[in-house]
Amino acid sequence: MVPTAIVARLREHVGETVTLHGWLYNKTSKGKLHFLQVRDGSGVVQCVVFKGNVDPELFELLARIGQETSLSVTGTVKADERAAGGVELGVEDVTLHQVVDGYPITPKEHGTDFLLGQRHLWLRSRRPWAIMRIRHRVMTALRRFFDERDFVCVDSPMFTPNACEGTSTLFEVDYFGDKAFLTQSGQLYAEASAMAHGRVYCFGPTFRAEKSKTRRHLTEFWMLEPEVAYADLEDIMQLAQDMICAVVGEVLERCPTELEVLERDPERLQAVLPPFPRLTYDEAAALLVAHPDSDFVPGSDFGAPDETILSAAYDRPLMITHYPVEVKAFYMKRDPADETRALCVDVLGPEGVGEIIGGSQREDDLDLLLERIEAHDLPREAFDWFLDLRRYGSVPHAGFGLGLERFVGWIAGVEHVRECIPYPRTIYRLHP
Ligand code: 4AD
Ligand code: MG
Repeated sequence: MVPTAIVARLREHVGETVTLHGWLYNKTSKGKLHFLQVRDGSGVVQCVVFKGNVDPELFELLARIGQETSLSVTGTVKADERAAGGVELGVEDVTLHQVVDGYPITPKEHGTDFLLGQRHLWLRSRRPWAIMRIRHRVMTALRRFFDERDFVCVDSPMFTPNACEGTSTLFEVDYFGDKAFLTQSGQLYAEASAMAHGRVYCFGPTFRAEKSKTRRHLTEFWMLEPEVAYADLEDIMQLAQDMICAVVGEVLERCPTELEVLERDPERLQAVLPPFPRLTYDEAAALLVAHPDSDFVPGSDFGAPDETILSAAYDRPLMITHYPVEVKAFYMKRDPADETRALCVDVLGPEGVGEIIGGSQREDDLDLLLERIEAHDLPREAFDWFLDLRRYGSVPHAGFGLGLERFVGWIAGVEHVRECIPYPRTIYRLHP
């Protein structure tokens, strides 16, 4: 019996004969040689078929197999420093499972729109392969980071009766005759979980009926949301900084191949070290007012171009705090030193990726929170359960939400968030 190997671990089998199970990624032929690029999900390896080493009929057949033909290849693993991955396979036998002709995605350049329409197949290509692996690594590193700090993962529901982040981006669902919404954020429930477990996070899909067609917006995206009892704004800013550094460090260590496929310069990521620069909203506003390319109006929220101008000055994430309460959500606590400002933070990624984190200390006083709900024109009944948290053992607490696809996009050096989720959902896309 010839042992089965995976491409990612072929280096451990130099000199041995192994079988790989995979698909044909690309092929070139030259006289008595076929060069098969075989991918098995863990990587791609060059398999060299010499006419004299295989059955003559098989050699003829291999000339006609198309891209994505499924096959098993048996051969000897040879060290070859010129080859990607440092090894290639000297082929002795090939079993063809399904011979394919006319695979729609070829190694030539296709437009992104065409590729997104073929997303179920495009996921097999090198670039999406590398991005999905980085996404996986980021998710795993995030979970480990919080696990090591004694956080408990307590997930929030997807169907909710209330709005968390304003009413303009709610997806309404007919819930057996009642009105429900797809959640915009797990935060409100995470606050309840934090009162039960102290330090929690939730991590799952969130939904926003974003009509904007930008490189930063999806209608379905993943958010990781830690929430911490007895924590203030400073505590969660520190937490966010530690979290970003830990995850970036883990990707650098464990995803060198993926970063190389994406032509992502690791030096950009190596620069991501504490402490991160910090500005108050007023300081940031003053910079924008003085900037020739900005049409920022003081008192308003920062737009995408403003965020790009602000973050361009730094090689690591920028933390902006103390926004005017008017531009922020109802649940944020006001700064006791200046009631017009919220105890909040937005973290802007470098390289123009925009806001990757939004967070705050929460209003923990029942009467003030009731006031905020009214001022924001939100239906009080829907928040009754949430208000209980301010009736029974209310404590200072704080948390934030990290947008997974924007975070992955920045780390992977991918311009558009639609490439950072397996099946992007946007105003124009629900297929496949
Ligand atoms: O700033 P946001 O709206 O904050 C919240 O939802 C809070 N309730 C989180 C919390 O404190 N627990 O969203 C958080 C992050 C943003 O910084 C951004 O990275 C991402 O979610 N995000 C989006 N990502 C992709 N597409 C969209 N339409 C997004 N909207 C927000
Ligand atoms: Mg925000």
